[in-house]
Amino acid sequence: MYIVLLGPPGAGKGTQASLISEEMGLSHISSGDIFRENLKNETPLGLEAKGYMDRGELVPDDLTIAMVKDRLSKPDCQKGALLDGFPRTPAQAAALSATLEEMGKSVALVPYISVPEQELIERLSGRWTSQTGRVYHVKYNPPKVAGRCDVDGSPLYQREDDKPETVKNRIKVYLQQTTPLIDYYKEQGLLVEIDGTKSIEEVGKDLLAVIEKVQQ
Ligand code: AP5
Repeated sequence: MYIVLLGPPGAGKGTQASLISEEMGLSHISSGDIFRENLKNETPLGLEAKGYMDRGELVPDDLTIAMVKDRLSKPDCQKGALLDGFPRTPAQAAALSATLEEMGKSVALVPYISVPEQELIERLSGRWTSQTGRVYHVKYNPPKVAGRCDVDGSPLYQREDDKPETVKNRIKVYLQQTTPLIDYYKEQGLLVEIDGTKSIEEVGKDLLAVIEKVQQ
């Protein structure tokens, strides 16, 4: 089953994708995490993506599509995957459909996690992330020991692109370039809106309920 998690920056896509992929044994493909991993390892892809990410802009479609296509070709993605942060433009959505079609598959469901803009800013400014991409929040999801990951104890860090000016630009870019995908998937009958203002646990339950419905 291939699921696309849609929603603005800070809506909780990464948080929910980690919980659901664990619960369902699905591979979690986060385009942002793959870029950050490449950046950490100073690969040519990471270095090319850096400027765009620092400005809160989208990395060009050709680079992003090639990267996700490569990830989807791996053995752990043959039975399904949870896509978080991809697609983000109409060209990426078309490329995803074409890639899945080549594999004899298709997108089964697109949960759209909606959260008002003011709340997004509060969430992103209080977010702390582990080296392995686990996500915490000072108020809504604090780690057991301040500044340390609950799972491996590694130090948490604040993402460069969570600075207020960059967050504002990321939201603007989302509104301009990604919101057309809401209608795109609605027209295909795949979109289900999820109220992302509920607690992390409640949003997780709502998401699992819509996924189970599609599985039946
Ligand atoms: P990416 O890493 O994908 O960032 P994003 O989409 O902006 O999303 P975030 O990771 O910021 O938010 P999220 O929705 O995952 O929220 P989270 O669960 O962390 O992309 C980063 C950059 O990479 C882009 O700007 C771009 O440059 C590039 N890029 C990536 N993909 C690309 C693509 N396809 N094309 C081109 N460029 C691309 O939650 C946020 C906070 O809120 C956390 O602290 C969490 O604990 C808290 N929280 C979560 N849920 C709740 C809740 N229900 N209640 C209270 N708090 C909550």
